[in-house]
Amino acid sequence: MLDALQRPVHDLRISVTDRCNFRCVYCMPKHIFGPNYSFLKRSQLLSYEEIERVARIFVNHGVRKLRLTGGEPLVRKDIELLIEKLSAIDGVQDLSLTTNGSLLTLDKAEKLRASGLRRITISLDSLDGDTFKSMNGVDFAPEPILQAIDTAAAVGLAPVKVNMVVKRGVNDNAVQSAAEYFRGTGHIIRFIEYMDVGNSNRWQREQVISAAEIRDIIGRKFPIEPASPDYHGEVAQRWRYRDGSGEIGIIASVSQPFCSTCTRARLSADGLLYTCLFANTGHDLRAPLRAGTTDEELATTIRQIWSARTDRYSELRASQTIEIPKIEMSYIGG
Ligand code: GTP
Ligand code: 5AD
Ligand code: SF4
Ligand code: SF4
Repeated sequence: MLDALQRPVHDLRISVTDRCNFRCVYCMPKHIFGPNYSFLKRSQLLSYEEIERVARIFVNHGVRKLRLTGGEPLVRKDIELLIEKLSAIDGVQDLSLTTNGSLLTLDKAEKLRASGLRRITISLDSLDGDTFKSMNGVDFAPEPILQAIDTAAAVGLAPVKVNMVVKRGVNDNAVQSAAEYFRGTGHIIRFIEYMDVGNSNRWQREQVISAAEIRDIIGRKFPIEPASPDYHGEVAQRWRYRDGSGEIGIIASVSQPFCSTCTRARLSADGLLYTCLFANTGHDLRAPLRAGTTDEELATTIRQIWSARTDRYSELRASQTIEIPKIEMSYIGG
């Protein structure tokens, strides 16, 4: 199944909730996601059975990678029950989850692993307590997240990837120390260019630390060389330390967009299908799911949506002159 720009669908990213216990400045700033913010209601969320059904149809259409996101996926009750269902689908080659790590106890990590989760990505924006606390908006210290990263690896969710969004003047001075900390641990830290996703974060281009700058900051202390991608269309550029002490990733979605190889479909927690992270509208799959539509009919609907897909927001960013209302990252996941 190819879209209008000849891109197959290979990954399905499933958001299981729009809620999160953090208020990261670049994602859910407190002045917008305050006590009066209206999150999705329970009845609006797809059930685990409904998510499984959609995932199966996508796998029949060629999807091989599933990723659970949020909001924060671990705030949804018994997420391991969903993982169990998804890991039982024939044809799924990769099943992972992106989390802030704050709820990842040893018990939870073991449950996730036992239910069939293979890998995990944990976000951590600084190892410095004050910087991290001001970025996550809820005064959460970095130590429990570092512990969660080790716990995840210990139960077999390895290699653990660590996501760090770099914002100029906020945590760019934490890049080198983070690289140094994870060097030689087997965990892979990935530095992400700050993106203009959603409408809440008041993004400005000057706040982006580019991939080239990140490379310089790290290379100044630890010589690195490019490594080839692990798979076609990999989002992160891989760099390895010349002395063999591991690798890092850099996600350059602003300075070097990768839309031409974008094979990702996104399912929101309330069952809308989005064909781009920067979309402003989704296609409702929940209504047909709940109206007794057959799998064949749903498969046809999905094929029609994907076939018409022309999204390449990041490649067009520079020429975009009008502000369109976009979906929030906390709603659709990263
Ligand atoms: P692996 O499967 O381990 O390679 O992970 P991944 O890089 O596909 O997934 P991850 O969720 O860790 O993605 C890292 C970050 O890259 C996300 O949190 C986003 O910030 C960004 N990203 C991922 N996919 C896209 C995309 O399609 N478009 C844009 N613009 N950014 C993306
Ligand atoms: N720019 C770049 N990355 C972001 N993330 C959330 N918001 C943004 C943004 N505006 C990252 C999170 C997490 C992943 C899901 O997406 O830090 O690692
Ligand atoms: Fe929550 Fe992740 Fe958004 Fe931070 S980036 S507010 S942890 S969903
Ligand atoms: Fe894919 Fe849209 Fe991201 Fe481009 S901007 S890589 S089309 S999700």
